Amino acid sequence: MNALPKVGLGAIGCSRISLKGILPAVASSEQVNLIMVGSRDPEKAKEVAGRFGSVGFGTYDDVLNNKEIDMVYISLPNSLHEEWAIKAANAGKHILCEKPATTSYASARKMIQAAKNKNVRLLEGYMFRYHPQNSAAKKLIQEGVLGNLMRFDGCFGYDMPHKSLIPMSKELGGGSLYVSGGYPISASRMVFDEEPESVYCKLTIDPESGIDVRNDITLNYSNGKTAFTSSIFGSYYHSMYGVLGDKAYLRMGRAYTVPRDMPTKMYLDKDDKVEEMMIEPADHFQLMLHDFCGEIKKGKESKKDYERELLNQARVVEAAMQSNEEKRVVKISEIT
Ligand SMILES: NC(=O)c1ccc[n+]([C@@H]2O[C@H](COP(=O)([O-])OP(=O)(O)OC[C@H]3O[C@@H](n4cnc5c(N)ncnc54)[C@H](OP(=O)(O)O)[C@@H]3O)[C@@H](O)[C@H]2O)c1
Repeated sequence: MNALPKVGLGAIGCSRISLKGILPAVASSEQVNLIMVGSRDPEKAKEVAGRFGSVGFGTYDDVLNNKEIDMVYISLPNSLHEEWAIKAANAGKHILCEKPATTSYASARKMIQAAKNKNVRLLEGYMFRYHPQNSAAKKLIQEGVLGNLMRFDGCFGYDMPHKSLIPMSKELGGGSLYVSGGYPISASRMVFDEEPESVYCKLTIDPESGIDVRNDITLNYSNGKTAFTSSIFGSYYHSMYGVLGDKAYLRMGRAYTVPRDMPTKMYLDKDDKVEEMMIEPADHFQLMLHDFCGEIKKGKESKKDYERELLNQARVVEAAMQSNEEKRVVKISEIT
């Protein structure tokens, strides 16, 4: 029996990822209730709300004005996240904002300040972090199975996005660094459990659209640990990270976007043998939602600092962008 009341959720934007990721996770959740779907198009909002078991539909502002809604899920183009996250905070709603929550450090700071002013929580939706395969990897690392960590490799590559979509629009906050480069960067920060000291980044620009279609990044961590991360538009599908220590190498078979019914595998290369470890399927969108709801319910007792996590990630991405522009290594401490 679930004694606690369900968290009321309002969706802002009927995006493709909302239909595939969060809304199915909400529909099957015993902790969250879909109260209303907001869209620029009321007919679309009505259809999507109905599909996921709600009768509430309206505009984005209707979502913010709805008193039954505790939390909003923002899945708008990246360039609109700041505006709607600040409006949501001012309306007293907790915010789950799709990744990347921001495209600049200054914007991250503004969003977090707005949330703090109104005593609401703000989570950037890097759902992959909640997949149990990462806690399994962390356990091996903490038990010393890999020995001293030395190097992280992470890559997220897939087909060239269609020209009409957000990833290929500068105006909407597209480009490989913002759209998919954040995944392996975030994974390296999670695996090393610290922030990089400096970053070097090279973006490859598509001459037609002016969009970066590839990023290749070196992140220097303490004690000589290094992460090499890339994301690529127009490659064979690749969603991996690997961690090298002085005793073993661990590789995740599918690291970032894992369908809820897909088992995953980790490969532990140690003592000249490769051990395959099976991880049961999991809905990382729902695990993230439930984690967030749990912390919201704890109020001031919550120990999780989602906002610091968002800020740290934004800082590294901004350093990467600056590094590409200035063609030099940028220290994270330069981003203030
Ligand atoms: N976590 C993940 O696995 C994952 C995967 C893909 C994308 N994402 C993130 O989720 C967000 C949405 O991405 P998506 O690919 O799902 O986007 P999408 O399908 O293009 O949807 C974006 C939605 O934003 C609304 N919108 C408002 N102003 C718009 C404008 N000027 N142009 C286009 N749409 C506008 C539209 O909703 P209405 O018409 O209903 O108002 C549209 O459906 C992005 O931040 C992206 O980085 C996350």
